[in-house]
Formats: sequence, structure tokens, C-alpha cells
Amino acid sequence: MQAEQSSSALLDLAVHAITRKEGGSFPCEQGDTILSGALRAGVGMAYECNAGECGSCKVTLVSGEVHDLKPEAGGLRPRERERGKILACQCVPQGPCTVSFREDAEAVPRISPAIRQAWFVRSEPITHDIWEFTFQTSGSAEFLPGQYALLKLPGMSERRSYSMSNLPNSDGIWQFQIRRVPGGAATGILFERMAEGDVCTLDGPYSNAYLRDATRGIVCIAGGSGLAPMLSIVRGALAQPALKDVDIHLFYGGRQPRDLFTLDRFVDLAPHARRLNFIPAVSCEDDALDGWSGERGYIHDCVGRLMGDRFQNSEFYMAGPPPMVEAVRRLLILEKGVATERIHYDRFF
Ligand SMILES: Cc1cc2nc3c(=O)[nH]c(=O)nc-3n(C[C@H](O)[C@H](O)[C@H](O)COP(=O)(O)OP(=O)(O)OC[C@H]3O[C@@H](n4cnc5c(N)ncnc54)[C@H](O)[C@@H]3O)c2cc1C
Ligand code: FES
Repeated sequence: MQAEQSSSALLDLAVHAITRKEGGSFPCEQGDTILSGALRAGVGMAYECNAGECGSCKVTLVSGEVHDLKPEAGGLRPRERERGKILACQCVPQGPCTVSFREDAEAVPRISPAIRQAWFVRSEPITHDIWEFTFQTSGSAEFLPGQYALLKLPGMSERRSYSMSNLPNSDGIWQFQIRRVPGGAATGILFERMAEGDVCTLDGPYSNAYLRDATRGIVCIAGGSGLAPMLSIVRGALAQPALKDVDIHLFYGGRQPRDLFTLDRFVDLAPHARRLNFIPAVSCEDDALDGWSGERGYIHDCVGRLMGDRFQNSEFYMAGPPPMVEAVRRLLILEKGVATERIHYDRFF
């Protein structure tokens, strides 16, 4: 029994070598997915959601065995599975493996993701169903504005992606703005069961939709739960001296007025109200909207209507539900001719 336990403990700590068929290799440690192993080693493996749904991290498993954390994940079609494709963000190697994929220079992380323990500090409401959650780690909170972390909450074996809303800092403060999902496992714990001092695992940072230093106008577009990374990007832009003359627009779409907030809610942003164009909009066509004097309609329509001739001279960032991101991408690429390199987004599956 003792021998069995110690050999399984050794297996848990095993480092598996992942060889790339096209050349090179990297280690994958302690139950890490192939994607996390690659990024921790500075290898440019393409990805987006880390949740098994976008399909960006597809690689071919040439040899070796993996444990698939989410066999029903929507990012891979059954035929692709049959042809040996796997989702690197959901597959944990069980021994040495060989995989085949094209390296993506854009995906080489500027900050390698790392696993830390995080302590829950507090939560406070922003709207009726979005709350801000503050965690603390020892050491600094290192990330780029716009990035997200994977949280493993107490009592959960799966991780969930949540974007940071604050700025990197040496105090180890990580803030998230999270929307309550009815019947959701992680949001159920966050909204109902977290107590000060509760410990969870935080792995990050991830995402390629971070603030670029191009001195073009900045347009941030968020729907629902997509608020956090857009606030981080706005904060990052306001803090960068090189971007001091750049115009910033923040579009935020909700269904009804109660889904929205005013800029006064964020004390650090209020003084920038003249430079920061905040445009909240409601999409619900309802008599209950009597008294709402702001923008109406879907957020992509508002962007199309209000950005005038600024499309060619702006950098676009967006986050939120996949249909919203797709609608804005269609507007930008097909109708306005914006180059894809100037569009940065995370879809919240
Ligand atoms: C890159 C990225 C960044 C993100 N950033 C944020 C962020 O900043 N803020 C934010 O709020 N969210 C964010 N998300 C979404 C977040 O990761 C979670 O998906 C979300 O909080 C829901 O998690 P949950 O565990 O509460 O819900 P889940 O338990 O995953 O449930 C999701 C939905 O499925 C339903 N469901 C669950 N189990 C079943 C079942 N057995 N049968 C039928 N239906 C079922 C639930 O009722 C619910 O409607 C992000 C996602 C991604 C990919
Ligand atoms: S499916 Fe793996 S990163 Fe989205």
C-alpha cells in the first residue's frame, strides 16, 4: 500500500517530455496541460480560451497517452478526434508524448504563466449580477492589461477563466469582475460560499488580447461579463505616458439599464471622464426603458454608428459572449476594412 502511494505521488510530480515532431521539446509538469507546459516553457502554441471551446489550440498527437479533461469540449469535431487531433488546453500527458503543431510567434508569452496560491480578500457588487472579487497572492501580480487567469476554487476540480480588471502591481492584488451564472458551479461558489481567507489556485497570466503600445485611438468593447479586461486595458492606457494623447472609447452593452453602471463607480476612472468616452447601451426594446436616455441597440450597431471615421486609426479590443464578439468582428473586418492585426479579443465561452 505504502509503495503504491509513494509511486503514485511520484507519478503526480513527474515531468513529462513533450517533443514537437517538427523539432524541439518542452517539459510538462505536475498534471499540467500540454498548452500550459508549452507556454510556461516560452513555446508559442496558439490558443485563446483555455476552456476547450474555441479550438485554437488543436494539435496532432503523434504518439503517447494523454488524459482529456473535457472529452465533450466543443472546440473539436468528432472527425478531428478520429484523425488524432487533441485540444492542448484540455489534455494532460500521462507520459512522454510527441505532438505536431505550427509555432505561432504571436503566442510566445511576454509573461510566462505560473501557478500560485491566492487568498480571497473581499467581494462587492458592481451591478445586480456582476461583482468585483479581490484576491491576493504573495509576490507581485504580474500580467498585462487585458489578460486572464485560471482559478481553481475550493471544492472544485475544474478551473475557470477570469480576466483581471485591475493593473499589474507589486502588492499581489488580483481583481476580477464576475457575472453570476444561474446554476453555475464556479459562480455559485464565488457568490455564495467564499469567505475571507479562503485559498484557491491561480494560474496565469494567459491571453494574447493584451494592451498594445501602438499610439492609435483605443476602442474597448464589452458585453455582460466582458467588462473586466476592458477596464484593465482602459486603466493601462490611462497609465501609459506614451498613450497620453490617445483617445479612448469604452463601449459597454447590457440588456437593460440595471445591467449598466456609471463611471463614478470606479473612483480611479472618474477624473478621466473628459478623455475617456464611456458609452453604455441597452439592447432590450421594451416599454420598461422609458426614462433611459442613453444609447439603444446592440453594441456592434452602436460602434458602427458612433465611431465615424475613426475605424482606420484605432486599435480595437473586445471581450464578452461569442455572438457579440463575432458581430463586432464582422462589422470591423467586413464593413469597415479594419486589419485583423488591430483587433484583439477574448470570447467568454
Ligand atoms: C478567456 C475567458 C475569460 C473569461 N473571463 C470572465 C470574466 O472576466 N468574468 C466572467 O464573469 N466570466 C468570465 N469568463 C467565463 C467564466 O470562465 C465561466 O465560464 C463562467 O463564470 C461560468 O462558470 P460556472 O462554473 O459558474 O458555470 P458552469 O458550471 O460552467 O455552467 C455554465 C452554464 O451551463 C449550465 N450547466 C452547467 N452544468 C450543466 C448540465 N449538466 N446540464 C445543463 N446545463 C448545465 C449552467 O446552468 C450554466 O448556465 C471567461 C471565460 C473565458 C473563456
Ligand atoms: S479550445 Fe483550447 S484554447 Fe480554446
